[in-house]
Amino acid sequence: MNQTILKAGIAVAVIVAGIFAYLLFTGPRMRDQILIKPFQAQMPSMPAGTLPVVDTISPVPDEKQAKLLTNPLDKTPENYARGEVYYGYYCVFCHGNKGAGDGPVGYSYVPAPADLRTSKVQAMSEGQLLRSSLTGIGHDPVLKKVVPPEHRWYIELYVRSLGAKP
Ligand code: HEC
Repeated sequence: MNQTILKAGIAVAVIVAGIFAYLLFTGPRMRDQILIKPFQAQMPSMPAGTLPVVDTISPVPDEKQAKLLTNPLDKTPENYARGEVYYGYYCVFCHGNKGAGDGPVGYSYVPAPADLRTSKVQAMSEGQLLRSSLTGIGHDPVLKKVVPPEHRWYIELYVRSLGAKP
């Protein structure tokens, strides 16, 4: 009697093991899926009229040009106020509220962002200041691509005003 139960048990075990083995070798497997490597994927097509990000759209003056450039904006309170807003967009997190170079992001920079109130910065001509604001250490190549030309001179105006009240 015990013998029969044992035999039946072994038979069931063999059948179950057989089913597992069958599934293991014939069941759905990862290796059966279509493999698309990232570089093989089709890029979505760009909308018509899309332009590449290149500096020809908003060039920064070279050093020679920069020396000759002057700020075309009037030094009105409204323009300073706009400059402060744009400074808040692009500069404040590195150079700090008052331009002391103590913004929260600036802390991780070596060298630390310049103190914009110092005579080294304030002695620059208007064009030089514009240029070094966009291309100096810690700025290249990001800022010149980020700050649109129509905001730049306002920021220069505002940075100037930081020097006046240290
Ligand atoms: C990602 C951080 C960061 C941002 C954003 C940033 N700066 Fe700077 N800035 C720096 C660092 C770093 C230096 C280099 C300090 C040094 O060389 O001692 C610097 C230097 C300067 C200098 C001195 C350049 C020189 O030649 O001595 C000026 C002026 C300046 N920044 C203006 C600006 C203005 C204006 C903005 C906003 C449009 C701006 N920065 C945004 C990090 C930043």
